[in-house]
Amino acid sequence: MPRVLVTRSLPESAIRMLRNAFGHAEVQVFQECRPMAREELLARVVGIEGLLPMLTDRVDRELLETAGPQLRVVANYAVGYNNIDVAAATERGVAVTNTPDVLTETTADLAWALLMAAARRLGEAERVVRAGGWRGWGPQFMLGVDVHGKTLGIVGLGRIGRAMARRAAGFDMRILYYDAQRLAASEEHSLGVEYAPKPLLLCECDFISIHVPLSPDTRHLFSGDEFKAMKRTACLVNTSRGPVVDEAALAQALRDGEIFAAGLDVFEEEPKVLPELLECENAVLIPHLGSATHETRAKMAETAAANVIAALEERDPPNCVNPEVL
Ligand code: DGY
Repeated sequence: MPRVLVTRSLPESAIRMLRNAFGHAEVQVFQECRPMAREELLARVVGIEGLLPMLTDRVDRELLETAGPQLRVVANYAVGYNNIDVAAATERGVAVTNTPDVLTETTADLAWALLMAAARRLGEAERVVRAGGWRGWGPQFMLGVDVHGKTLGIVGLGRIGRAMARRAAGFDMRILYYDAQRLAASEEHSLGVEYAPKPLLLCECDFISIHVPLSPDTRHLFSGDEFKAMKRTACLVNTSRGPVVDEAALAQALRDGEIFAAGLDVFEEEPKVLPELLECENAVLIPHLGSATHETRAKMAETAAANVIAALEERDPPNCVNPEVL
C-alpha cells in the first residue's frame, strides 16, 4: 500500500477518504498545532508516495530528492502553490495539485469584508470601543469613505477576482480590471468589467483588490510608485500573497496619507508582520483567513485527498497544475 503524509491535522472526512483508500497505518497525519519543522518534514517524507502539504511547507528540490523516486503526488492544501517548486516536481514526474473552485466564494467574501472594514475604519473603531475610548456619537467622529457607487479595480481577474466583481455589482460600482490576459469583449460585457492598463487602474480606482498568484512577475507589484499613483482616498485590499505588496512601502504610504487605508490578509513573512504596519491605524490586518470557514476547509481537504487518491490509483488527479507529467 502506498504511504501518504499529511502535514497538519485536517477535517476528518478527508482523512477518512485517505484511510479508506490506503489503510490506517499508511496515512500519517502530523497532529500538532504548528507547522512541521523543516528537519521533521525532511525526515518524514522519506519513502512516501503521496504528500499533502500546507502552504507553510516548502516543497523544494531538496525535499523532493529526500522523499525519493517513488513520490508520485504533492497535493497542496491551497489554491496557491508558490510554496512548491513545480519545475523540480515536473522533472521528477511528480504531479502537483491544488484546491481551486471550492474556496473562490469564501475568499471573495473575506476580501469584501476587508474592503468594507478598510473603508469604514472598522479595525480602528473596534479598538476604540474595546479600549474604553469612545466618548459618544460625533458629527466628525471616525469618518470613512463610501463604497457604493465607487470604482473598484481588480488586479487579476481569475476565479476569485470574478467573484469580487459579482459582489461589486451589488454595490453599484464601476469595475475596472487589469490582468496579463485581456478577456474577450463579450466576456467583459457579461461580467460588467472594463479593462484598464495598470497606470490607469491605479489613478481611477477608489478600491483596488489584488487577486494574482505570486510569481517573479508579481513580487512587489505594488510598491512606492503604485501608492503614489493611487488616489489619496483609495483603499488597497490584498488576499493573494504577501510578497505581491511591498509592505515597507505600504506602511509609509499609509503613514503619509498617500492612500486612505489597506486591508491585508497576507504578509511578506508570515506570521511576522512589519512593525511599521502594526503602527498604522488605517491598516486592517488579519492572519491569512481567506479560506478559513468550516465548510470551505472541509471541501479543500476533500479536494486534496481526492487528488492524492486519483494519482496513487493511476488516474488523472482532477486539479493537476503540471499535467505534462500525467
Ligand atoms: C490558498 O488556498 O492559496 C489560500 O491562501 C489558503 O487560505
